[in-house]
Amino acid sequence: MADDILNRFKEDQTGQKEIDTSKKLRVGIIGTGWIAEAHIINYMKMPDVEIVAGADLIPGKAEAFFKRFGLQDVKCFESHTDMLNSVELDAVSVCTYNATHAECTIDALNKGVNVLLEKPMCVTLEEAVEIIRAEKKSGKVLSIGFQPRFDPNMKKIKEIVESGVLGQVYYIQTGGGRRRGIPTPYGTSFIEKDKGAIGAVGDIGCYSLDMVLNAIGYPKPLTVTGYTSDFFGKRPDYYKNHPEYAEVFGVDDFAAAFVRLEGGIILDFRIAWAMNIDTPGDTIILGTKGGLRIPSTECWNGTVGGAMKIYHEVAGSQVETEIPIIESDIDLFEAKIRSFLDAIKEGTPAPVPSSQILYNQAIIDGIVKSAKAGREIEINIPEI
Ligand SMILES: NC(=O)c1ccc[n+]([C@@H]2O[C@H](COP(=O)([O-])OP(=O)(O)OC[C@H]3O[C@@H](n4cnc5c(N)ncnc54)[C@H](O)[C@@H]3O)[C@@H](O)[C@H]2O)c1
Repeated sequence: MADDILNRFKEDQTGQKEIDTSKKLRVGIIGTGWIAEAHIINYMKMPDVEIVAGADLIPGKAEAFFKRFGLQDVKCFESHTDMLNSVELDAVSVCTYNATHAECTIDALNKGVNVLLEKPMCVTLEEAVEIIRAEKKSGKVLSIGFQPRFDPNMKKIKEIVESGVLGQVYYIQTGGGRRRGIPTPYGTSFIEKDKGAIGAVGDIGCYSLDMVLNAIGYPKPLTVTGYTSDFFGKRPDYYKNHPEYAEVFGVDDFAAAFVRLEGGIILDFRIAWAMNIDTPGDTIILGTKGGLRIPSTECWNGTVGGAMKIYHEVAGSQVETEIPIIESDIDLFEAKIRSFLDAIKEGTPAPVPSSQILYNQAIIDGIVKSAKAGREIEINIPEI
């Protein structure tokens, strides 16, 4: 009896539920590069999933990928449309480089397939709008791959804001950076214009934006003054073993922006793949009753870098409350994939909905467009 009660407490704490395996979801993977590994590893852990198909533009890449994971019977294609036309699927992970996120996602939704789309959502606001139109038409689940959302420390930021302890939020400073962290360990797909399409602003900027926008309820962005630069990526001596990468570098490696959000909130943003400083600063959220400091991680990965602090006033005294780091053994990628599958099976909303990430993408798009125009621009999001 006591054991029974203890088990129930445990179930409450871990949130783990039993998985119904009576029907297996037929899953495909589009783009079998670096991040697809994190997807397949976690799909393979799921007792209610059968991985049945995969596609990669590079001949033989999909076959080699599934073979590496001991899956011999997966049907492989060089075109995602051939895969969607030939194989009955319940869900796909879109793990392609940014430039093809939109077409692969729209094609899958149009075929009535649920989609887990890697971050950033896409490249432009216009693409994001088209993706959401396809999602609405299909009635399928579309979730965007922001795994830091499942980190209890990230959830804590939202809980702190929602508790009211900060009062009315009016100013946010966010962003992060790496001293030297242009992502080229597996080649140049992040830095080529026709593949990565956007650089640090999309790749890691989308995480900083999500950290704070999710916490404050994703208010609509109104205007943006953006700046982008590429001083590091274009330097042949930046890449110790591959000076030729400088030739193909066609995106940003630094971005900064001043964004006005609905509700009179100001968002001051900066992000860097490379810079001559340790960090461009912690994330801070200023409110009328309190301020929150979220330490930056050393090598920016979109999460919380240390104990957070709330600065507030108690009985006339200026005090600080420390929110210790929550240690957790949650596998963020596993949680991202499990929550996507659960939403499909239970008919519940997408764990990371496109309606929120639309605003994230609108800011990224606004930064790029404003930087090009050299002035502040209005963000106009069409009716969807
Ligand atoms: N969530 C995370 O933590 C995380 C981490 C790394 C990368 N990512 C994201 O994942 C995406 C992929 O990154 P990566 O490092 O795996 O890149 P990658 O270059 O290693 O792999 C992408 C693959 O997609 C294939 N591809 C592109 N268009 C295709 C199409 N239309 N059909 C079939 N295959 C296509 C390419 O040939 C390539 O093999 C990026 O958008 C990136 O931002 C997310």
